[in-house]
Amino acid sequence: MMLILSTPAIQYNKGHLSVLNQQKLPLEEEWIDCSTPEDMVEMIQSLKVRGAPLIGIAALLALAQLVERGANRDSIIAAARLLRQSRPTAVNLAHSIDRVLKRLDEESDHFKAVLSCVKEIVQEDIALCEAMSAAGAKIIQKGENLLTYCNTGCLATVGTGTALGVIKEAHRQSKCIHVYACETRPLLQGGRLTAWELTNAKIPHTLICDNMAGYLMSLGKIDRVLVGADRIARNGDFANKIGTYSLAVLAHHHRIPFYVVAPYTTFDAGCPDGSHIVIEERCANEVRGVKGVLSQMIWSPADTPVYNPAFDVTPSSLVTAYIMDRGQLKKEELQTSFEKS
Ligand code: MRU
Repeated sequence: MMLILSTPAIQYNKGHLSVLNQQKLPLEEEWIDCSTPEDMVEMIQSLKVRGAPLIGIAALLALAQLVERGANRDSIIAAARLLRQSRPTAVNLAHSIDRVLKRLDEESDHFKAVLSCVKEIVQEDIALCEAMSAAGAKIIQKGENLLTYCNTGCLATVGTGTALGVIKEAHRQSKCIHVYACETRPLLQGGRLTAWELTNAKIPHTLICDNMAGYLMSLGKIDRVLVGADRIARNGDFANKIGTYSLAVLAHHHRIPFYVVAPYTTFDAGCPDGSHIVIEERCANEVRGVKGVLSQMIWSPADTPVYNPAFDVTPSSLVTAYIMDRGQLKKEELQTSFEKS
Protein backbone atom coordinates (compact mmCIF):
# COMPACT_ATOMS: atom_id res chain seq x y z
CA MET A 1 0.00 0.00 0.00
CA MET A 2 1.22 3.48 -0.83
CA LEU A 3 -0.03 6.53 1.07
CA ILE A 4 0.27 10.21 0.31
CA LEU A 5 0.18 11.99 3.67
CA SER A 6 -0.06 15.74 4.21
CA THR A 7 2.23 15.59 7.24
CA PRO A 8 6.01 15.83 7.38
CA ALA A 9 5.89 13.62 10.51
CA ILE A 10 5.50 10.11 9.13
CA GLN A 11 6.00 8.17 5.90
CA TYR A 12 4.57 4.88 4.71
CA ASN A 13 5.37 3.06 1.51
CA LYS A 14 4.64 -0.65 0.91
CA GLY A 15 5.38 -1.77 4.46
CA HIS A 16 8.24 0.66 5.00
CA LEU A 17 7.31 2.93 7.92
CA SER A 18 9.43 5.78 9.21
CA VAL A 19 8.88 8.57 11.69
CA LEU A 20 10.40 12.04 11.93
CA ASN A 21 11.75 12.07 15.49
CA GLN A 22 9.85 14.96 17.12
CA GLN A 23 12.02 14.72 20.23
CA LYS A 24 14.85 16.20 18.19
CA LEU A 25 13.01 18.82 16.16
CA PRO A 26 13.78 21.47 15.13
CA LEU A 27 17.51 21.17 15.73
CA GLU A 28 17.84 17.84 13.98
CA GLU A 29 15.62 16.18 11.35
CA GLU A 30 16.20 12.53 12.15
CA TRP A 31 14.11 9.79 10.49
CA ILE A 32 13.74 6.53 12.41
CA ASP A 33 12.47 3.27 10.93
CA CYS A 34 9.68 1.42 12.64
CA SER A 35 9.82 -2.37 12.14
CA THR A 36 7.42 -3.76 14.73
CA PRO A 37 4.34 -2.69 16.73
CA GLU A 38 6.62 -2.65 19.80
CA ASP A 39 8.85 -0.08 18.04
CA MET A 40 5.77 2.07 17.45
CA VAL A 41 4.66 1.76 21.08
CA GLU A 42 8.09 3.05 22.14
CA MET A 43 7.93 5.94 19.64
CA ILE A 44 4.46 6.94 20.86
CA GLN A 45 5.41 6.72 24.55
CA SER A 46 8.62 8.72 24.10
CA LEU A 47 6.78 11.34 21.99
CA LYS A 48 8.90 10.79 18.90
CA VAL A 49 5.49 10.73 17.30
CA ARG A 50 2.78 12.65 19.14
CA GLY A 51 -0.43 14.69 18.92
CA ALA A 52 -3.85 13.07 19.42
CA PRO A 53 -4.86 12.42 15.78
CA LEU A 54 -1.33 11.53 14.67
CA ILE A 55 -0.76 8.81 17.27
CA GLY A 56 -4.05 7.24 16.13
CA ILE A 57 -2.74 7.10 12.55
CA ALA A 58 0.80 6.05 13.54
CA ALA A 59 -0.61 3.04 15.39
CA LEU A 60 -2.68 2.10 12.33
CA LEU A 61 0.35 2.33 10.07
CA ALA A 62 2.19 -0.08 12.38
CA LEU A 63 -0.72 -2.50 11.86
CA ALA A 64 -0.65 -1.96 8.09
CA GLN A 65 3.05 -2.79 8.12
CA LEU A 66 2.41 -5.98 10.08
CA VAL A 67 -0.26 -7.04 7.60
CA GLU A 68 1.92 -6.28 4.59
CA ARG A 69 4.64 -8.44 6.15
CA GLY A 70 2.28 -11.41 6.19
CA ALA A 71 1.10 -11.48 9.83
CA ASN A 72 -1.96 -13.58 10.63
CA ARG A 73 -5.23 -12.30 12.05
CA ASP A 74 -4.43 -13.25 15.67
CA SER A 75 -1.13 -11.39 15.76
CA ILE A 76 -2.76 -8.32 14.20
CA ILE A 77 -5.42 -8.29 16.90
CA ALA A 78 -2.79 -8.73 19.63
CA ALA A 79 -0.72 -5.86 18.18
CA ALA A 80 -3.81 -3.65 17.92
CA ARG A 81 -4.54 -4.20 21.63
CA LEU A 82 -0.92 -3.44 22.54
CA LEU A 83 -0.89 -0.21 20.50
CA ARG A 84 -4.25 0.88 21.92
CA GLN A 85 -2.73 1.04 25.39
CA SER A 86 0.40 2.99 24.50
CA ARG A 87 -0.97 6.36 25.72
CA PRO A 88 -4.14 6.73 27.79
CA THR A 89 -5.49 10.28 27.40
CA ALA A 90 -6.05 10.96 23.68
CA VAL A 91 -9.17 9.10 22.58
CA ASN A 92 -8.27 9.24 18.86
CA LEU A 93 -5.88 6.31 19.36
CA ALA A 94 -8.60 4.08 20.84
CA HIS A 95 -11.10 5.21 18.19
CA SER A 96 -8.88 4.32 15.24
CA ILE A 97 -7.82 0.95 16.68
CA ASP A 98 -11.45 0.09 17.50
CA ARG A 99 -12.45 0.88 13.93
CA VAL A 100 -9.87 -1.56 12.58
CA LEU A 101 -10.87 -4.24 15.09
CA LYS A 102 -14.52 -3.81 14.03
CA ARG A 103 -13.58 -4.08 10.36
CA LEU A 104 -11.61 -7.25 11.12
CA ASP A 105 -14.72 -8.64 12.75
CA GLU A 106 -16.85 -7.89 9.69
CA GLU A 107 -14.42 -8.91 6.95
CA SER A 108 -12.93 -12.39 6.47
CA ASP A 109 -9.90 -11.20 4.44
CA HIS A 110 -7.76 -9.58 7.17
CA PHE A 111 -5.28 -8.12 4.64
CA LYS A 112 -8.06 -6.26 2.86
CA ALA A 113 -9.80 -5.32 6.13
CA VAL A 114 -6.78 -3.61 7.68
CA LEU A 115 -5.42 -1.87 4.60
CA SER A 116 -8.76 -0.52 3.38
CA CYS A 117 -9.65 0.72 6.86
CA VAL A 118 -6.27 2.42 7.39
CA LYS A 119 -6.48 4.12 3.99
CA GLU A 120 -9.98 5.34 4.77
CA ILE A 121 -9.05 6.75 8.19
CA VAL A 122 -5.97 8.51 6.82
CA GLN A 123 -7.95 10.17 4.03
CA GLU A 124 -10.68 11.09 6.48
CA ASP A 125 -8.18 12.68 8.86
CA ILE A 126 -6.82 14.92 6.13
CA ALA A 127 -10.36 15.98 5.17
CA LEU A 128 -11.31 16.61 8.81
CA CYS A 129 -8.38 19.03 9.16
CA GLU A 130 -9.50 20.91 6.07
CA ALA A 131 -13.07 21.14 7.34
CA MET A 132 -11.96 22.44 10.77
CA SER A 133 -9.59 24.95 9.19
CA ALA A 134 -12.32 26.34 6.94
CA ALA A 135 -14.85 26.52 9.81
CA GLY A 136 -12.36 28.17 12.18
CA ALA A 137 -10.91 30.68 9.73
CA LYS A 138 -14.39 32.21 9.34
CA ILE A 139 -14.37 33.52 12.91
CA ILE A 140 -10.88 35.07 12.76
CA GLN A 141 -10.99 38.80 12.06
CA LYS A 142 -8.37 40.74 10.10
CA GLY A 143 -5.32 41.77 12.12
CA GLU A 144 -6.04 39.62 15.18
CA ASN A 145 -3.46 38.45 17.69
CA LEU A 146 -4.06 34.77 18.40
CA LEU A 147 -2.64 32.76 21.26
CA THR A 148 -2.05 29.04 20.90
CA TYR A 149 -0.66 26.23 23.03
CA CYS A 150 1.32 23.03 22.53
CA ASN A 151 1.56 21.83 18.91
CA THR A 152 -1.62 21.19 16.95
CA GLY A 153 -0.37 21.41 13.38
CA CYS A 154 0.84 18.99 10.72
CA LEU A 155 3.16 17.42 13.32
CA ALA A 156 0.12 16.42 15.37
CA THR A 157 -2.21 15.23 12.57
CA VAL A 158 -1.80 13.78 9.08
CA GLY A 159 -3.38 16.91 7.65
CA THR A 160 -2.81 20.61 8.20
CA GLY A 161 -3.73 20.51 11.89
CA THR A 162 -6.48 21.46 14.32
CA ALA A 163 -5.95 24.84 16.07
CA LEU A 164 -2.84 25.46 14.01
CA GLY A 165 -4.73 24.39 10.88
CA VAL A 166 -7.22 27.20 11.54
CA ILE A 167 -4.36 29.65 12.04
CA LYS A 168 -2.69 28.57 8.78
CA GLU A 169 -5.96 28.92 6.88
CA ALA A 170 -6.58 32.42 8.31
CA HIS A 171 -3.06 33.37 7.20
CA ARG A 172 -3.66 31.85 3.74
CA GLN A 173 -6.78 34.03 3.50
CA SER A 174 -4.55 37.10 4.09
CA LYS A 175 -6.13 37.97 7.43
CA CYS A 176 -2.85 39.56 8.61
CA ILE A 177 -2.84 37.61 11.86
CA HIS A 178 -0.06 37.42 14.40
CA VAL A 179 0.42 34.40 16.66
CA TYR A 180 1.71 34.17 20.23
CA ALA A 181 2.96 30.60 20.72
CA CYS A 182 3.36 29.42 24.33
CA GLU A 183 6.47 27.30 24.76
CA THR A 184 4.57 24.52 26.61
CA ARG A 185 6.67 23.16 29.45
CA PRO A 186 7.85 20.56 30.20
CA LEU A 187 8.48 19.15 26.70
CA LEU A 188 8.35 22.42 24.76
CA GLN A 189 6.03 21.36 21.93
CA GLY A 190 5.22 25.05 21.42
CA GLY A 191 8.79 26.37 21.57
CA ARG A 192 10.16 23.63 19.32
CA LEU A 193 7.38 22.33 17.08
CA THR A 194 4.82 25.13 16.74
CA ALA A 195 7.60 27.69 16.29
CA TRP A 196 9.06 25.40 13.57
CA GLU A 197 5.72 25.08 11.78
CA LEU A 198 4.97 28.83 12.01
CA THR A 199 8.44 29.64 10.70
CA ASN A 200 8.04 27.22 7.78
CA ALA A 201 4.62 28.66 6.95
CA LYS A 202 6.00 32.23 7.22
CA ILE A 203 3.31 33.21 9.71
CA PRO A 204 4.23 36.24 11.87
CA HIS A 205 4.67 34.96 15.42
CA THR A 206 6.24 35.55 18.81
CA LEU A 207 7.29 32.82 21.20
CA ILE A 208 6.49 33.36 24.88
CA CYS A 209 7.08 31.39 28.08
CA ASP A 210 3.88 29.89 29.46
CA ASN A 211 3.87 32.20 32.49
CA MET A 212 3.77 35.31 30.24
CA ALA A 213 0.30 34.65 28.81
CA GLY A 214 -1.62 36.37 31.64
CA TYR A 215 0.46 39.54 31.42
CA LEU A 216 -0.05 39.74 27.64
CA MET A 217 -3.79 39.33 28.13
CA SER A 218 -3.83 42.10 30.74
CA LEU A 219 -2.11 44.38 28.22
CA GLY A 220 -4.85 43.70 25.65
CA LYS A 221 -2.44 41.93 23.33
CA ILE A 222 -4.52 38.77 22.79
CA ASP A 223 -7.77 38.74 20.78
CA ARG A 224 -8.50 35.02 20.77
CA VAL A 225 -7.16 31.75 22.17
CA LEU A 226 -7.20 28.58 20.03
CA VAL A 227 -6.19 25.19 21.46
CA GLY A 228 -6.54 21.53 20.47
CA ALA A 229 -7.93 18.65 22.53
CA ASP A 230 -7.02 15.07 23.34
CA ARG A 231 -10.47 14.01 24.56
CA ILE A 232 -13.76 15.90 24.75
CA ALA A 233 -16.32 14.53 27.19
CA ARG A 234 -20.08 14.51 26.51
CA ASN A 235 -20.64 17.67 28.57
CA GLY A 236 -17.84 19.53 26.73
CA ASP A 237 -15.13 19.27 29.40
CA PHE A 238 -11.90 18.45 27.60
CA ALA A 239 -8.37 17.22 28.23
CA ASN A 240 -5.46 18.92 26.52
CA LYS A 241 -1.78 19.58 27.20
CA ILE A 242 -1.05 20.52 30.81
CA GLY A 243 -1.38 24.31 31.12
CA THR A 244 -4.48 24.60 28.92
CA TYR A 245 -6.74 24.97 31.97
CA SER A 246 -4.69 27.92 33.29
CA LEU A 247 -4.98 29.64 29.89
CA ALA A 248 -8.75 29.09 29.86
CA VAL A 249 -9.10 30.64 33.34
CA LEU A 250 -6.96 33.60 32.28
CA ALA A 251 -8.95 34.07 29.07
CA HIS A 252 -12.22 33.96 31.03
CA HIS A 253 -10.95 36.58 33.50
CA HIS A 254 -9.94 38.87 30.64
CA ARG A 255 -13.11 38.15 28.59
CA ILE A 256 -11.08 36.78 25.69
CA PRO A 257 -12.83 34.19 23.46
CA PHE A 258 -11.42 30.70 24.03
CA TYR A 259 -11.92 28.03 21.32
CA VAL A 260 -11.26 24.29 21.22
CA VAL A 261 -10.49 22.98 17.74
CA ALA A 262 -10.89 19.23 17.28
CA PRO A 263 -12.24 16.60 14.88
CA TYR A 264 -15.20 14.38 15.80
CA THR A 265 -12.68 11.57 16.50
CA THR A 266 -11.65 13.48 19.66
CA PHE A 267 -15.21 13.43 21.04
CA ASP A 268 -15.75 10.58 23.51
CA ALA A 269 -19.46 9.81 23.70
CA GLY A 270 -18.75 7.25 26.42
CA CYS A 271 -17.24 9.82 28.76
CA PRO A 272 -19.86 11.86 30.69
CA ASP A 273 -17.56 14.61 31.98
CA GLY A 274 -13.93 15.59 32.55
CA SER A 275 -13.62 13.77 35.88
CA HIS A 276 -13.69 10.45 33.96
CA ILE A 277 -10.71 11.28 31.74
CA VAL A 278 -7.54 9.33 32.57
CA ILE A 279 -4.59 11.70 32.75
CA GLU A 280 -1.20 10.34 31.74
CA GLU A 281 1.62 10.91 34.23
CA ARG A 282 5.13 11.11 32.87
CA CYS A 283 8.63 10.70 34.28
CA ALA A 284 10.09 13.09 36.82
CA ASN A 285 13.18 14.14 34.87
CA GLU A 286 11.01 15.92 32.27
CA VAL A 287 10.26 18.44 35.06
CA ARG A 288 13.62 18.35 36.86
CA GLY A 289 15.27 19.70 33.72
CA VAL A 290 14.98 19.66 29.97
CA LYS A 291 15.92 17.16 27.30
CA GLY A 292 18.02 18.70 24.56
CA VAL A 293 18.96 17.15 21.23
CA LEU A 294 22.29 15.89 22.46
CA SER A 295 21.79 15.45 26.16
CA GLN A 296 19.48 15.87 29.10
CA MET A 297 20.12 18.81 31.40
CA ILE A 298 18.88 18.46 34.97
CA TRP A 299 18.84 21.62 37.08
CA SER A 300 16.94 20.39 40.16
CA PRO A 301 18.45 18.27 42.91
CA ALA A 302 18.50 14.77 41.41
CA ASP A 303 15.93 13.33 43.82
CA THR A 304 13.55 16.30 44.14
CA PRO A 305 10.01 14.87 44.21
CA VAL A 306 8.04 15.73 41.07
CA TYR A 307 4.44 15.59 39.86
CA ASN A 308 4.19 15.48 36.09
CA PRO A 309 0.67 15.15 34.65
CA ALA A 310 0.91 15.43 30.85
CA PHE A 311 -2.61 16.85 30.44
CA ASP A 312 -5.21 18.79 32.38
CA VAL A 313 -8.98 19.07 32.15
CA THR A 314 -10.75 22.32 31.29
CA PRO A 315 -14.44 22.63 32.18
CA SER A 316 -16.83 23.39 29.36
CA SER A 317 -17.96 26.56 31.17
CA LEU A 318 -14.68 28.19 30.09
CA VAL A 319 -15.08 27.32 26.39
CA THR A 320 -16.59 29.90 24.02
CA ALA A 321 -17.19 27.30 21.28
CA TYR A 322 -15.85 24.09 19.77
CA ILE A 323 -14.63 24.36 16.20
CA MET A 324 -15.17 20.93 14.75
CA ASP A 325 -15.21 19.42 11.27
CA ARG A 326 -19.00 19.90 11.27
CA GLY A 327 -18.70 23.61 12.09
CA GLN A 328 -18.79 25.74 15.20
CA LEU A 329 -20.69 24.15 18.10
CA LYS A 330 -21.73 25.46 21.52
CA LYS A 331 -21.36 23.00 24.40
CA GLU A 332 -25.12 22.38 24.45
CA GLU A 333 -24.94 21.36 20.78
CA LEU A 334 -22.05 18.89 21.16
CA GLN A 335 -23.93 15.83 22.33
CA THR A 336 -26.92 16.25 20.00
CA SER A 337 -24.62 16.86 17.05
CA PHE A 338 -22.88 13.54 17.67
CA GLU A 339 -26.10 11.66 18.42
CA LYS A 340 -27.32 12.54 14.91
CA SER A 341 -24.32 10.91 13.20
O1 MRU B 1 1.77 15.09 24.56
P1 MRU B 1 1.42 15.54 23.19
O2 MRU B 1 2.47 16.37 22.54
O3 MRU B 1 0.95 14.39 22.32
O4 MRU B 1 0.14 16.47 23.41
C1 MRU B 1 -0.49 17.06 22.30
C2 MRU B 1 -1.61 17.95 22.67
O5 MRU B 1 -1.94 18.11 23.82
C3 MRU B 1 -2.38 18.59 21.55
O6 MRU B 1 -2.87 19.84 21.94
C4 MRU B 1 -3.56 17.67 21.18
O7 MRU B 1 -3.11 16.38 20.91
C5 MRU B 1 -4.36 18.17 20.06
S1 MRU B 1 -3.39 18.11 18.60
C6 MRU B 1 -4.16 18.10 17.24
